[in-house]
Amino acid sequence: MTLLHTELCDIIGIKHPILQGGMGPYKTEALAIAVVNAGALGVISCIGMAATLIPEAAPIDAQRLFGSDPPAIILQKSIEKVTKETRSSGGVFGVNVPVAAEFILASKMFVEQTIESCKADSDTERSLRVVVTSAGNPKPWSVLKDEGFIWVHVVPSVYHAKKAEAAGADIIVASGHEGGAHVSWDPVHSMVLVPAVAKAVKTPVVGAGGFCDGLTLAAALCLGAVGIQMGTRFIATKESDFEPMWKQAILKREERQTLVGRGLFGPMRFLRNKRAEEIVEQTLEDLPNFYLGEPLDSNEVILKLEQTGFDDLLDAKEDTALMFGGEVAGRIQDLPTTAELIGSIVSEASEVLGRAPKFVVSG
Ligand SMILES: Cc1cc2nc3c(=O)[nH]c(=O)nc-3n(C[C@H](O)[C@H](O)[C@H](O)COP(=O)(O)O)c2cc1C
Repeated sequence: MTLLHTELCDIIGIKHPILQGGMGPYKTEALAIAVVNAGALGVISCIGMAATLIPEAAPIDAQRLFGSDPPAIILQKSIEKVTKETRSSGGVFGVNVPVAAEFILASKMFVEQTIESCKADSDTERSLRVVVTSAGNPKPWSVLKDEGFIWVHVVPSVYHAKKAEAAGADIIVASGHEGGAHVSWDPVHSMVLVPAVAKAVKTPVVGAGGFCDGLTLAAALCLGAVGIQMGTRFIATKESDFEPMWKQAILKREERQTLVGRGLFGPMRFLRNKRAEEIVEQTLEDLPNFYLGEPLDSNEVILKLEQTGFDDLLDAKEDTALMFGGEVAGRIQDLPTTAELIGSIVSEASEVLGRAPKFVVSG
């Protein structure tokens, strides 16, 4: 098998230049295990776990998804499981901690638990090499480097990339507007964002948003990135922790069948259905206040739409379930294992890049 080797592989210690994006509401534990064992970076997601802290104000039924353990214990057990299940492959994994101001206390708790889990077990210390922070100010999190982690920070703009570089991030993920779940209000897509960020910073850049195959991995490398991060594509794999209905919904969507609307913590991209349309309707009502900088008084409505949307997801009601996903859903038509997926991405990208020199002619 041909391998594609970039700086990302050396920095993190992975075989393939591919990161699995953090994807709350789930722990993405099964997915992380499969991705690590396939030679890329698997990532445990934390954001849903925080919902166990204040169940009545949480968008998801945390008890139903995670049981009654406190969030730090849920994370600890998940880290133990991923360590154990990936030990024989010698791969490495990460933890994603969203650091938005709204849940900064939960972010601190997850970071502390991650550090503690590494101290408690030498196998974990060897394999849990990466922390991916997202959705917030990078500045306080340089402490992750002092703790020996490779620190990856996710940004939606050149401005935020420069801030992450100044804070000392080891890798910057430039996340374009076509991506699934949280996006920025400013609709800058990967084709513009990735080369702009790669040019603006010296820190190695990974592209996110719209990547799903060898063509898009090759494109990312040509745009100046050292690899890709994928969310939506990884949902639609055999091993991923997502509902079968969610996986099928991705396979059914065409590229125009996602919508961006207000989530409780900022805009999000949903797979289009009745629930997503209701959220967009509410978003449009909120826009005047949003643009005037006034407080949004419809948080309760949004919370209710999200809560019932997640209940309907768990009850497999396709039309009213809340499901996030990127525009790239329109390019996904199969449900491979993660090993098959990663293998096909790498071989297609190698083939495309192998053909590239033929386009260069001396004049
Ligand atoms: C269902 C879903 C949940 C997500 N949750 C998170 C999250 O908890 N933290 C985070 O940093 N990014 C989150 N993301 C973004 C992904 O990590 C990734 O950057 C994004 O999906 C890339 O775009 P793509 O969907 O086009 O591959 C989520 C994406 C999806 C689809």
